[in-house]
This record gives sequence, C-alpha cells and structure tokens, in this order.
Amino acid sequence: MSAYLQCINKNCQEKFPINNKIYHCPKCDGLLDVNYDFPKLEAQELKNRFRERRSSFIPIDQSGVWRFRELIPFLNDERNIVTLFEGNTPVYDAPKSASYAGLKKLLLKHQGLNPTGSFKDNGMATGIAQAKSLGAKAVACASTGNTSASMAAYAARAGMLAAVFIPSGQIAYGKLSQSLDYGAKTLQIDGDFDLAMQLVLELSQESELYLLNSINPFRLEGQKTIAIELLEQCAWQVPDRIVVPGGNLGNSSAIGKALAECYQLGLIDRMPKMHIIQAEGANPLAQMWSKGERDKLLMVEKASTLATAIKIGNPVSWQKALRALDWCKGGGCHQVSEQEIADAKAIIGSDGIGSEPASAVTLAGIRNLVSSGIIDKEERVVAILTGNLLKDPDYTVNYHLDSLYQKSQTKIEIISQQDKILANFANRPVQVAAEKNTIKQVLGL
Ligand code: F0G
Repeated sequence: MSAYLQCINKNCQEKFPINNKIYHCPKCDGLLDVNYDFPKLEAQELKNRFRERRSSFIPIDQSGVWRFRELIPFLNDERNIVTLFEGNTPVYDAPKSASYAGLKKLLLKHQGLNPTGSFKDNGMATGIAQAKSLGAKAVACASTGNTSASMAAYAARAGMLAAVFIPSGQIAYGKLSQSLDYGAKTLQIDGDFDLAMQLVLELSQESELYLLNSINPFRLEGQKTIAIELLEQCAWQVPDRIVVPGGNLGNSSAIGKALAECYQLGLIDRMPKMHIIQAEGANPLAQMWSKGERDKLLMVEKASTLATAIKIGNPVSWQKALRALDWCKGGGCHQVSEQEIADAKAIIGSDGIGSEPASAVTLAGIRNLVSSGIIDKEERVVAILTGNLLKDPDYTVNYHLDSLYQKSQTKIEIISQQDKILANFANRPVQVAAEKNTIKQVLGL
C-alpha cells in the first residue's frame, strides 16, 4: 500500500488501510498520520510540474491544494475531488508590521483569502474528498467558527449533510452566517468548544457521521499545502522562521509534516524554525513549552480570549504539534496578551491587510521574540494569517471605537473597566455635519 494510516506513537507505529474510518489508533489510542511510500520523485521535475499547473484550466490544477497532488497521494479516484479553487493565497510584504515587530522585513501569507475566508479550506478540500471516497453521506465537526464555515461549504458542494457543533454565543457572526447560508445543520451547544469537540468525536464513533475536525488526518494532508505553496512562493528558499497561531494545533502539525516531507524528498535543503503562538487565556501548549513538560497536556479548564477562533483549552493535536516543533528545531510555543493581539491586529490593518484577531497573535508573538533577542532583525520571517478580517468585524469596530473589553463574550456585555483593551492604534470614525466647509476642515483641505 502506498498510502496508509499510521499511529504517531513511537512505541506503536501500527499501520492501517486508508479506508478505515478511524480517528485514533485502535491499538493504543494514539493520533494517526496519513503516510506514504513515496515513489522516487525528481525534485526539480516536481517543482516544474507544480508551476506549470498554474497556467492550466483543469480544475484540479487550479486548486492550490490538488496542484500539489504528488505530495498528498491518498486518493484513488480523482472524481471524488470537490474544489472551490482553494489555496493559491498571496504572500505580502508588510513594512509597517515589520517595523512594529522590529524586523527589516516581514512576509504575511494570507490564508484568509481562501474561498470561505480561512485556511480551513485547504484541509477541507482533502477531508471532503476522503469523505466521498468512503461514501459518507453526512459529515460533522465541532468548531470555533471557521472549520464549520468551510465544512458547510464543501459539504454543500458535495451534496452531503453537514452537522456543525458550535459553542453557543461564542463564535463570530461572520462565521455563523456562513454555516447557516451554506445549509448546515447548525447545533449551538450549551458549552465551550472543548465540550462540543468531545461530543462530536463520540457521536462520530457511534454513528454514520464522518468527522472532519483536524483530528482527521486527511484534513491535515490538505493543510500541508499551505507550507508547500509558501515554499514555492519563496522560490524554494527556506525562510528562517514560520510563525503560526495555535488553537486545536492542527495547522502547526500539518505545516511541520509538510516541511519534514519536503526535506525528505529533497525539495528543500534545510528545515526552518517554527513558532506557535497562543492567546494567554488559551495557552495549554505554551505552558507546556515553558515548563518543559512534553508528555502530559496542561489542559486549560476554561479557555478565554476574544480571539474566539483559538479559544481552546484541550487541543486534540498537541502531540503532533510538539513533534512539529521538534522537526523545526529552534522554535517554540509562546503566548501573547489580549492587548498585544488587539494592537498587532490594528498594525496589520495599517499595512492594508485585514485579518481576524486569531491571526494577529503571530505579529504580537514575533514582536516579543525580536525584543527578547530570540529573532534577529535580519531574519527572514513569514507569519501565516489564518482568517479574514470580515469574519469578526465586531472586534475590529469595537477596538477602533475604544470599546473592546477583554472578558466580554458579546458586543454589549462589559465586565469591568479594568478589562478594557486600550485602543493604542485606533482609527476613530469622525462624526461630521453634512456640510462642505466643515468636511473640508476635518480633511484639512
Ligand atoms: N486561526 C484561525 C482563524 C482559526 O480559525 C483557527 C482554528 C486557528 C487559527 C488555529 O488553528 O486549530 O489548527 O491550531 N479554528 C478552528 C475552528 C478550531 O473550529 O475553526 P489550529
């Protein structure tokens, strides 16, 4: 078998056929990878092929995921591909963000410019293809909003029922609106993401539902292409550091796997360092990293952050994320405060690039790492922006109106003045009379 499921547990490593509908190793309960016996591939020939497909009109060539199909070769029948032309996201030079971080140059790869506005589309493209291969009629996920939006869209295209489990009242409206519009059965669970995740995992094991959270290793195969495409955009010159937000820790795991495979296949000649950044109120991996704990998850009981996408205390892929940090030696996992996230988001915005709060942890983290001397100002650093600004406009407007409160769950709920986030880089709207002279005065004309 050239593609197979394999337990990541070093003491187990058991292999299973890819048509098994399993999310954990049946022997030891470990997480699973999709692994391959890659045929002998000539690196330059592969790079040429990836590049040539950019000018092709065939849908699977136009997809920024399936364009790299030699590196995700698990599908037996290409008719199971459902594409929204995901991936193909730009890498921007961001001078104001670079200067804020203390770097000479900073690149932002904007995964928020995907069809449903987040990086989840890369993984959903492969997840839904596997669901189709298995003959699934219904797919499910727990979500802080982006996975559900993406799954709802791909399931609609594939003609499958989508069941999304979201923590009631805790996801941004932009994301909720998507799963409603794409026709998903949207279940608002009375509890947090971690509870919703546990529920949907159990239900998927007991029923026909096919689980499309990132615990499903086929999702991560698609997310690998974020790193592969980035390397291609860097002309296969490996950046010094790649910085990603950390929530359920699927994305960092996938990026690490992609880099390791590209290295193994000779597409790159060294590994970059990777940094995973978490919000301080949802920081299980950052805590483990700083305490040197590697074997037991330091779960956060009641995760809290206004970056709701990463409000997760019990991430399913923590072992894979640690493995990725191990592969990309010299990086680490760090946390940033709510104030740092909010300010970093406004700075990214000032570069003309909109992101949702969870994406901005990257810039906040880089800034701290530069000021503490871990990253040198000359280094080539790339941050992955994971979601679009329009996913959560409330957060942005509240920041610029100077009314963003750290512990509030909703726009109108204010916990206490001490929880106020300072609008250090606010661009306040100006109330002005509908009168030309006054407007001229305001604009300095
Ligand atoms: N950024 C955004 C915008 C996200 O939506 C997520 C995760 C992350 C970062 C973290 O990525 O989980 O792979 O470590 N969102 C998931 C969801 C949990 O349900 O949409 P991760």
